Amino acid sequence: MDRADAAVKTDPSTIFLKDYTPPTHLIDTIELTVRLNDDVTTVSSRLVGRRNPASGSGPADLYLDGEDQELVSLTLDGRTLEKGDWRQKPEGIVVPGIAGDFTLEVEGRIKPQDNTRLEGLYKAGGMYCTQCEAEGFRRITYFPDRPDVMAVYTVRIEADKARYPVLLSNGNRIETGDLEEGRHYAVWHDPFRKPAYLFAMVAGDLMVDRDSFTTRSGREVALEIYVEPGNEGRTGHAMDSLKRSMAWDEEVYGFEYDLDIFMIVAVSSFNMGAMENKGLNIFNDKFILADLSTATDADFQRIEAIVAHEYFHNWTGNRITCRDWFQLSLKEGLTVFRDQEFSADTHDRGVKRVGDVRLLRAAQFPEDGGPTAHPVRPDSYIEINNFYTVTVYEKGAEVVRMIHSLLGAEAYRKGIDLYVERHDGQAVTCDDFVAAMQDASGIDLTRFKRWYAQAGTPRVSADWRYDEAARTLTLDLAQTTDPTPGQPDKQPVVIPLRTALIGENGQRLPLTVDGEESGDETVLVLDEAERRVTFSDVPKGAVPSLLRGFSAPVKLDAAWSDADLGFLAATDDDPFSRWEALQTLATRAILAMVEAKRAGRPMSLDAAVVSAVRDGLEDARLEPAFLAELLALPGESMLGQAMDVWHVDAVHEAREDAIWTLGDTLFDTWLALYDRLSGETAADDLSTAAMGRRALRNRALQFLVSSGRPEGLARAAAQVQAAASMTDVMSALAALNDTDCPERTEALQAFHDRWQDNPLVLDKWFTLEASSALPGTLDRVKELQSHPRFDPKNPNRIRALVGGFTMGNPVRFHASDGSGYAFLADEVLRIDQLNPQIASRLCQPLVRWRRFDGERAKAMTGALRRIVEQPTLSKDVFEIASKGLS
Ligand code: PHE
Ligand code: ZN
Repeated sequence: MDRADAAVKTDPSTIFLKDYTPPTHLIDTIELTVRLNDDVTTVSSRLVGRRNPASGSGPADLYLDGEDQELVSLTLDGRTLEKGDWRQKPEGIVVPGIAGDFTLEVEGRIKPQDNTRLEGLYKAGGMYCTQCEAEGFRRITYFPDRPDVMAVYTVRIEADKARYPVLLSNGNRIETGDLEEGRHYAVWHDPFRKPAYLFAMVAGDLMVDRDSFTTRSGREVALEIYVEPGNEGRTGHAMDSLKRSMAWDEEVYGFEYDLDIFMIVAVSSFNMGAMENKGLNIFNDKFILADLSTATDADFQRIEAIVAHEYFHNWTGNRITCRDWFQLSLKEGLTVFRDQEFSADTHDRGVKRVGDVRLLRAAQFPEDGGPTAHPVRPDSYIEINNFYTVTVYEKGAEVVRMIHSLLGAEAYRKGIDLYVERHDGQAVTCDDFVAAMQDASGIDLTRFKRWYAQAGTPRVSADWRYDEAARTLTLDLAQTTDPTPGQPDKQPVVIPLRTALIGENGQRLPLTVDGEESGDETVLVLDEAERRVTFSDVPKGAVPSLLRGFSAPVKLDAAWSDADLGFLAATDDDPFSRWEALQTLATRAILAMVEAKRAGRPMSLDAAVVSAVRDGLEDARLEPAFLAELLALPGESMLGQAMDVWHVDAVHEAREDAIWTLGDTLFDTWLALYDRLSGETAADDLSTAAMGRRALRNRALQFLVSSGRPEGLARAAAQVQAAASMTDVMSALAALNDTDCPERTEALQAFHDRWQDNPLVLDKWFTLEASSALPGTLDRVKELQSHPRFDPKNPNRIRALVGGFTMGNPVRFHASDGSGYAFLADEVLRIDQLNPQIASRLCQPLVRWRRFDGERAKAMTGALRRIVEQPTLSKDVFEIASKGLS
């Protein structure tokens, strides 16, 4: 390798938001012809474009992105361009001197069958499909592949008719016909202008599930879900979710679907969850296929949420798209907020909120506190694929949720209407979104915008004093945000703190805030470093309930005593706050056990936790689904986050011991609860209430098994055998998974034998094997990599087995001998050769090394260094691993 080459590979260039310039040329229409062949696929495109007035006038270079393809010819306004008429760039070509209107024809050749990156056009199973977000279109044809270039597409697909009877693309099918040699074609036209990342096409021998939806203005929309043969009959839940999403979006946002057909295709190899291509969503089949015997309740809910999410993008993402990829959260944060609310309206709002906060804390907070921290709107990147993050998605959704809280539902909706009125058909920025919200509501959001620009999780402290004589409660609030890479100094952000005071009898008290009557719940806005608030006319014994509903993505450190937390855990009427009180109490107690353990003292779980759990169990007012959440102890990574150094083994043991104590002390209560709920719910009842009862029953089972008593194990083994539903089977297997007993071995083997021909269900088995805390798990994972059904290229298999170990098994992944880290480094390097996007995601756990003790940190950085030193590393992995070391 010569020096220039080495420089490109080890120091890929960084792209900055501040360098954004409008495109020099616009493309009005593209006619694309794709001729699919086993050996070489040819792609011809005809672009009709013009100089962009917003960029200037006169001759300018037209830049076309292109990667991994052979350029056959270029024709400008009918004249074939010779070498010399255009210039080669590292990742594209330049055609100089284009001043006015132009027509450019491009001919190229690609090999989708060799495309293991799964970006652009590739083969998945027996079908061809595409993935163009963010920059995949340039792997299909030379094109200005940036979201602010929006064109009208006409797409002709040609393929062998017998093997690929179904030919799909965006928009409406306007023509089909037969060709020579057993081939055929279809032409699709999408009347809506769109950026290249929303282009999609599919060719395959597919089965279809058809339905229809009548929009509120009376238009009938054909709905079609395509799957590979063998998967038919498993799309009912996705179809039902789609129709409910369409109705919800009309009702809550006034958004109606705009084409006559909406299609979904489920594919078996997909890097992400799903993709919102205009009129032709393409899904990881994991998020479409479901039936009672193969899907858990959690799977059903996830499918519903993702189907909704992709559908919702039709307005928030497709009709109004992003100007550039720094604005990704414009569509993702907003669309996640929309799908969260859809699920909250469909199921139990409190339970949904708790689940969303759990994810935010487990995944986003660590990202925000580590070396890859970035703002919701990043200001630089090396590889945009690395920015499809929990920060852009989930924190982005929290930012939209805060706007919703600050404005109120009505003004928020006016803001949405104004946003659409101003920007339909455009590619815009997060600033445009906030401006619409501000202008529609009259609320100044200037300072609020810091949430988009500043990384890191703000810490809020809350302290209070009660003056009995004056009957006042003085609340002192303060905020700080720790430095993050590139942002040493932080400014205060605007933090809406939903607040109530809970009186001795457990009721919300009427509030007088700084002299003003404020109902019995208020949103205190902390937008300076500090703020003091005085509540007057407060009776003795009132306890503040703060950050209700988790009204801002912050870490709250409030001066609650254990007694206050026990009180809130038993009485707070805000489900999130009630759950949070018990979580905080349990966290304190388990951390005390960790301390004891490390000091060589015996561990014992604080009795306050036992009694709070008992109170919850006895509270007949609680919905089972909520109770199941309330009774779950904080996970190991949450506990780790609460410590300066995450002592992996001590945390694991303390948590296990706490669960054992709860299982043992309350054994009879768990048993009675389990047995009572066993008769109550039919396995095929998929109502929210039934899912809740199953969740609670399985929570009870977890504690029963953890007690170590034979009745517990017996019930779990019986539940696996009864196999009433996948939810019950998986819960029982999970309950048994960390116990070395014949029940576990037999149950896992039986599950394997039953499901070995269903890849998605077998993934659950791979994950169980990989996430067992039992010693020997890493060897088992390595052994399973040669399992006949483990396809080492398939992202779902990799996530199930390798990800199941590295993300779902802290105690084994962080083994003090460094074996888990070495394994991950090997896997990252292996997978990077095939699929950089997957490799880069897999690499993430290693960058968190600062959270661990010296020995582990050294082994983790050693693994990262080994990765970075690989000479042929992708940009994707280079960016994550090198930032991880910096
Ligand atoms: N835009 C997709 C979504 O959020 C996610 C995605 C990104 C899929 C990149 C594929 C590639 O719904
Ligand atoms: Zn999305």
